Amino acid sequence: MTDRSALTAALTRARDRTLRLVDLDDAELCRQPDPLMSPLVWDLAHIGQQEEFWLLRGGDPQTPGLLPPAVDGLYDAFAHPRADRGALPLLAPGRARRYLQVVRERAVDALAALPADDDGFVFAMVLSHEHQHDETMLVALNLRAGPPLVGPGAPPPPGRPGVAGTAVTVPAGPFVLGVDAADEPHALDNERPAHVVEVPGFRIGRVPVTNGQWRAFIDDDGYRRREFWSPAGWAHRCRAGLTAPQFWQPGGTRTRFGHREPIPDDEPVMHVSFFEAQAYAAWAGARLPTEIEWEKACAWDPGSGTRRRYPWGELPPTAEHANLGGTALAPAPVGSYPAGASAYGAEQLLGDVWEWTTSPLRPWPGFTPMIYQRYSAPFFGGDYRVLRGGSWAVHPDILRPSFRNWDHPIRRQIFAGLRLAWDL
Ligand SMILES: [Fe+2]
Repeated sequence: MTDRSALTAALTRARDRTLRLVDLDDAELCRQPDPLMSPLVWDLAHIGQQEEFWLLRGGDPQTPGLLPPAVDGLYDAFAHPRADRGALPLLAPGRARRYLQVVRERAVDALAALPADDDGFVFAMVLSHEHQHDETMLVALNLRAGPPLVGPGAPPPPGRPGVAGTAVTVPAGPFVLGVDAADEPHALDNERPAHVVEVPGFRIGRVPVTNGQWRAFIDDDGYRRREFWSPAGWAHRCRAGLTAPQFWQPGGTRTRFGHREPIPDDEPVMHVSFFEAQAYAAWAGARLPTEIEWEKACAWDPGSGTRRRYPWGELPPTAEHANLGGTALAPAPVGSYPAGASAYGAEQLLGDVWEWTTSPLRPWPGFTPMIYQRYSAPFFGGDYRVLRGGSWAVHPDILRPSFRNWDHPIRRQIFAGLRLAWDL
């Protein structure tokens, strides 16, 4: 049985957020900011198209939809690579907004009519999809050249000195990896099922690696010393001419959503690729964690021998626990969230920056695809690396310690950083 009023409220929060993000003039919405990203108006209509497809058409392409089939097909993410979307005959912004509104009105009716024993999974999946695209739109807005369209963001809480570069110990032992529908009915297919794994002991950074620490890597010629890079990473670093995180500029400044500003030393580093993260870890005498280590450090409570729903316990995230929801437009300084510490003492696991892990995307044993069968399965076995924890741009309504994200190892326009790990 699902809490329909909670789901309806969460859908409304997501839509309010989406509409705030696209509160821009039509020319801006139709502009493609970068070949890596869609024009915002594509994301906007695609949010509605997927909501219609899963909630009103039952995920059946044969069921007629509200849009003519040729228009509906423009919003198939698998049929149209991002680089091509700017040239498609997309719905104009006004039409896209009206389409979203009509779909939402019918979706709310469908939610109200849901049988009492339905857990609302498909609605939660659509909610997650909308928030994920909201983050994608923020990535696009950050990449966009020209004067700022958004403000500098809400000021973060103060950090705590002395936490950067420190680590916590996670002793060897079993833990429950992943979740079951009984505990997390809205977890997506790749987070399931829960199963016991044995994890050797390790240490993991108390907080993510900071800009100040990354600057020491640059100053020590880390980008020019091949010994720290994997062969594939070095080849990419040479080809792409990498010398610093994306958006960093000479003189200790960066651009963020079009604002040029000093780079704060105590903020988690962001806009580094997996290859760069791996090289940094080697330089620091460490390694990246596996996603299994990451999830244990985040969710396991060794005292009770059970998982916590969040690193700090059972309570949903608040402003005391984590930097989530997208209003900060940046990570918070390390040490900002002592109340968000996990049982092992690691902080800022949820929010701030996605954290690269060494793990390729694989199904957990017993994986069963959800109704959106192409959400995870087509990506298993690719060159993707898993990212954990969510960035400042992830909404708390959709984030869990078991949530898995993935991207190519060269990508760095996403809000991603890293946390170090060491063998015991
Ligand atoms: Fe999508």
